[in-house]
Amino acid sequence: MSADELTRHQEAFAAEAAEVRDRADWEALRVRWIGRKQGIVRSLLAQLKDVPKEEKRDFGQGVNRLKGTVEARLAELDEELSRTERSLAQEAAAVDVTLPGRHPHLGTLHPVNLVTQHIVDIFIGLGYSVAEGPEVEDDFHNFEALNFPQDHPARDTQDTLFLEDGRLLRTHTSPVQIRTMLKRQPPIRVICPGRVYRHDNDLRHSPMFHQVEGLAVGEGISLGDLKGTLEAFIHRLFSPDTGVRLRPSYFPFTEPSAEVDITCPFCRGDGCQTCSGTGWMEILGAGMVDPRVLENCNIDPSIYSGFAFGLGIDRVAMIRYGIPNIRMLFDNDERLLHQVRI
Ligand code: DAH
Repeated sequence: MSADELTRHQEAFAAEAAEVRDRADWEALRVRWIGRKQGIVRSLLAQLKDVPKEEKRDFGQGVNRLKGTVEARLAELDEELSRTERSLAQEAAAVDVTLPGRHPHLGTLHPVNLVTQHIVDIFIGLGYSVAEGPEVEDDFHNFEALNFPQDHPARDTQDTLFLEDGRLLRTHTSPVQIRTMLKRQPPIRVICPGRVYRHDNDLRHSPMFHQVEGLAVGEGISLGDLKGTLEAFIHRLFSPDTGVRLRPSYFPFTEPSAEVDITCPFCRGDGCQTCSGTGWMEILGAGMVDPRVLENCNIDPSIYSGFAFGLGIDRVAMIRYGIPNIRMLFDNDERLLHQVRI
């Protein structure tokens, strides 16, 4: 190959090499010049056999020089491309430390749990322990042992949900009293929070709601102990200046029985919309454990007496956080949870 021819090839290659921008360009250039099948260098070599004998040497050397130039430049370009590729990959993988962080999504306790914990805490401070019982109960624990005989009209007030097998969803937490007294002899001081169920559904009632039951049985326990305990409890649950009054009432399992009212926490007794102008709010039921209930649980009423009370937790949560509709407690709208954080 003449010197001119060689130079022409070299210049053509250099011009093409100058256009290489990426891997694909580089690969195309490589195939075009030194590809095994149809590369330019290869086809020049194939021509060698037709070159006159005396020119073979020069031609061969020329092709070899061209091959050397092409390979060296391709290696250079390869190195440059690899460098750019590496730095692009590094940039892509880099962490931008100036970006604002992502805040973890914090949950909160449900208002019913907050109030339950508060109530349980107060009673633990008074020496009580927590007792629990099943939500699917039988007639004996939910009614019979609590002195609701079969066909007793007080059963109607409970709006019971029955299971097909004759069992029922407990309508109150009072059966936990029975289970506790059947298991142990006095002295007993228990607080029993839990879910209860009734066939009832409106602005203030939900078919599932929460109660907490209290029970104290021992020697010489009086109505005065009940009132003192309830006052200590209510003063801590609401505020120390909350008034407490007991009104005579009826429950089959207590004698005497009382409804317990507190002075309205919103108007402090002056009368407002929430307490219907009376200045009072009914918040729990209570009484002295009926001697027949003690007997049903093998506790001797000539030695022991006791008091019991039951309170709706959801109602306390609604009063405390100003929630107008009980269903808002069970809608699972997270905005409510965040508003009632204490
Ligand atoms: N179990 C009653 C109810 O759900 C509440 C209650 C009233 C419980 C008086 C008591 C009590 O322990 O002494 O309506």
